[in-house]
Amino acid sequence: MAQPFIHNNKTGLTRDLIEAMFPMFEQASAGAIAVDRDCRIIWLNHTYAALLGVDNPEAVIGQPIQPVIPKTRMPEVIATGRPLLLDIMEYGDQQLVVTRLPYFDDAGQVIGAVAFVLYDDLQPLTPLVSKYRRLHQDLVAARKALACKTRSTRYSLGDFVGATPAALEVKRRARLAAGRDMPVLILGETGTGKEVLAQAIHSVSPRSDKPFVGVNLAAVPENLLEAEFFGVAPGAYTGADKRTREGKFQLANGGTLFLDEVGDMPLTLQAKLLRALQEGEVEPLGSNRVQSVNVRVIAATSRNLETMMADGSFRSDLYYRLNVLEIGIPPLRERLPDLGILCEAILEDICQGLDMRGEITDTGVAALSSYDWPGNIRELRNVLERALTMDEESGTLDADAIFRVLPRQGSGSRRVERCGAGRPLAEVLAAAEAEAIESALVACRGNRSRAAQQLGISRSALYEKLAKLS
Ligand SMILES: Nc1ncnc2c1ncn2[C@@H]1O[C@H](COP(=O)(O)OP(=O)(O)OP(=O)(O)O)[C@@H](O)[C@H]1O
Ligand SMILES: [Mg+2]
Repeated sequence: MAQPFIHNNKTGLTRDLIEAMFPMFEQASAGAIAVDRDCRIIWLNHTYAALLGVDNPEAVIGQPIQPVIPKTRMPEVIATGRPLLLDIMEYGDQQLVVTRLPYFDDAGQVIGAVAFVLYDDLQPLTPLVSKYRRLHQDLVAARKALACKTRSTRYSLGDFVGATPAALEVKRRARLAAGRDMPVLILGETGTGKEVLAQAIHSVSPRSDKPFVGVNLAAVPENLLEAEFFGVAPGAYTGADKRTREGKFQLANGGTLFLDEVGDMPLTLQAKLLRALQEGEVEPLGSNRVQSVNVRVIAATSRNLETMMADGSFRSDLYYRLNVLEIGIPPLRERLPDLGILCEAILEDICQGLDMRGEITDTGVAALSSYDWPGNIRELRNVLERALTMDEESGTLDADAIFRVLPRQGSGSRRVERCGAGRPLAEVLAAAEAEAIESALVACRGNRSRAAQQLGISRSALYEKLAKLS
């Protein structure tokens, strides 16, 4: 076997040491390769050739390395003169752990580089790999959070899963809405995917590179809503910030403003919102100057706005302003044939980045169809998450696994199961709280105002708790 670079210039101790260690490395590794300063292959051992599926190693001598090993980072080593001591390189469907070292002439110039494949199987590195996976998972979560912070969207139209005619009609209308810069009103029970759809419309609209700003009318205390919407001028009131505080309208300028739970908007603000929409101008609190804004509004609610108009709690002029294109998302119980693909998508999402599997059998899906889903897709996700936690070993959910966690209205069996002995008090209390909130929402068919009333807490406290739960 030729070892061209080792035999030249045996001058210093380092070179001798390298020479002494090289055969050992070469033998112990799963492959070795060397390139010259132009990144042309000058040597390739037989084990690496076999790993790469190169039948005739001689044929690649003198060839540039990149076409042979597309993801190689040898050019970087040559360019910087710095080793890459540990790296995971993909080759086809293999992941190779490699180390790459430059080598120099007597004048200290890089004249080439050598690389060893330390492992061609990640098994011995399991602890390292699981740490890597955990970090990767953290990265995915951090990116998601960052995406929210930078006011971009998490969902696109593909995330609205469904193939029944009803679901396809929703998507058709969403696409239509995306193409036209008109106000959209999304109606649907709790957990049907109103937010998913609003984000999806924005992300396929021409405003997609501009901000998507959501405001949940039910979650913000009434006395803060105006400032939240229109912003605050410096020193507008005692204790106000010295700087201008932008409102959601200003933040959404150029993009989309999502008015979530618009049915919960107090009448006084309805009038101001209507004016802002009609005139395209807003007036920050404590300022006497108007600012022009250009936003597309998408509103959503689970309440019946027509009844609210009839009893005077929702302005009809605002309703017609918001409802230029209406999209009604049907409840899950009216599109049960979508359960199969919904489960598939949700299980994949749950398992993504985690070292676990999640599948559901046909009988599992049939079991899900026996339920009436007052909490819709959010509830479906919770049920699947719970079922997977209890069945983590197999990761396959059959009818039994589903029935074990499916709520049975009026029965307290689940409570007994979840508040089992031997768990820390804080955990038991949190589980009991989640259970009480869920039952109240189910009893009130997802109407949060009524659920909050039933639970004896404020609506914003309920929202805070729900945000922690989701
Ligand atoms: N069509 C869908 N396909 C896949 N997942 C969905 C779909 N619709 C909703 N989901 C999931 O269900 C959950 C609830 O969705 P979302 O928050 O959009 O509902 P919502 O209608 O805004 O509910 P609420 O009225 O309670 O605010 C989310 O986890 C979302 O990812
Ligand atoms: Mg919502």
